[in-house]
Amino acid sequence: MDRIISFDELVNKRRSIRKYKTDTPPEQWIEMMILSAAMVPSPSNTQPVRFLKVNSSGIRDRLHENMALGRQRLFDTLEERNGPKRLKNWITSYYRFSEFMFNAPLLFAAGTLKATTGFSRKLFEAGLIERYDRKDLDITIGLALQAFILKGEELGLGSCILTAPLVFISNVENILGIGDLDIRCLITVGFPDETPGPIQRKTVYEVYRTV
Ligand SMILES: Cc1cc2nc3c(=O)[nH]c(=O)nc-3n(C[C@H](O)[C@H](O)[C@H](O)COP(=O)(O)O)c2cc1C
Repeated sequence: MDRIISFDELVNKRRSIRKYKTDTPPEQWIEMMILSAAMVPSPSNTQPVRFLKVNSSGIRDRLHENMALGRQRLFDTLEERNGPKRLKNWITSYYRFSEFMFNAPLLFAAGTLKATTGFSRKLFEAGLIERYDRKDLDITIGLALQAFILKGEELGLGSCILTAPLVFISNVENILGIGDLDIRCLITVGFPDETPGPIQRKTVYEVYRTV
């Protein structure tokens, strides 16, 4: 019988994985991860989070090309403005922390529905409050991503959430051919081929206080 993994073990063991074995995880496992993501709470049960599997090599190539163009645009602007070398190094480094996604066996994009109407948005549209921000959507996609990656961890799959590519890619929704979503991140998934070294976490007392 499979060993039961405790919640603590899952949470403590999970690390971002950027190097994967070549095998593709079974689609059934991915559907289990999506199901976990679909179970999370959302404002008025609006369930605004959507996942796209980026399977098409044509789309992957266009994302890659667009990302390289985006990096060049940043380098050119930096040069025009005589910007610091430090920024150039950051761009190079974040590009590296983006490009590995093209070597992952599975690549997903996750987004939130543009048309979601929660309580605060309804009040905003009726002119009763001055501001509508995307807090609800930010929180909900975070919950969904956590459920998605932890279910993957339980199944023995590694993953990494990426937002850096979206700094380089100018029109991700166009390239993916979707109009109804705001893409918020990309996610790689696969069988881990690395064991990241230890990482420092803040203590309970650094992230918790009573007011
Ligand atoms: C919203 C978000 C965006 C991230 N973007 C990237 C990214 O673009 N590239 C990358 O390599 N890692 C990215 N990460 C992974 C973080 O670097 C990683 O979670 C952090 O360093 C802690 O390491 P751990 O996940 O192994 O615990 C992102 C994580 C989050 C939550």
